[in-house]
Amino acid sequence: MLLRGFAKPIESELIADIGAIAAQAPFRHMVTPGGHSMSVAMTNCGRIGWVTDPGGYRYDANDPESAKPWPAMPPSFCRLAAQAAVAAGFASFMPDACLINRYAPGARMSLHQDKDELDFAAPIVSVSLGLPAIFLFGGLKRSDKPRRFRLEHGDIAVWGGPARLAFHGVAPLADGEHAQLGRQRINLTFRRAR
Ligand code: SIN
Ligand code: FE2
Repeated sequence: MLLRGFAKPIESELIADIGAIAAQAPFRHMVTPGGHSMSVAMTNCGRIGWVTDPGGYRYDANDPESAKPWPAMPPSFCRLAAQAAVAAGFASFMPDACLINRYAPGARMSLHQDKDELDFAAPIVSVSLGLPAIFLFGGLKRSDKPRRFRLEHGDIAVWGGPARLAFHGVAPLADGEHAQLGRQRINLTFRRAR
């Protein structure tokens, strides 16, 4: 489900919170198990964070760069994610992980499934901020042709239930200038990982 403009009323709070998180746990380009540096820069907040390195994908309570716990999830994040889940028909979503993705022009995310979580009953709640992006949303097989959705600042996408393991990705970000965030797109992906 696409909730257009759902995050807009608290955009300033979200942007300030992202700045505070990035000051503690800076955005970095993680390396995939295949040895490629990702074009998207990432950080996390919450009890656990998603990381990738040459050893594989996993959730880790600590930031591997600092060996300290990830910054706590701000209450504004948690509330927004739970409200968006309810609006999409998923009651009592309590995320314990929030992956924060930063896209510069040209950055992309290839088709993948979010499947490092223990329980697929909880949905994925994905908040878009900054420059618009083309979100690719496919089926349960990698070969299913993805649909394309333009996600703009403040939009929230929620997928779960039979679509929980749908392949999804982001097309290379077009250059532009966003009033609040400049030449970038930031995405918050909320999950119940444990
Ligand atoms: C993701 O799948 O983790 C990111 C999706 C997005 O940036 O919209
Ligand atoms: Fe994903």
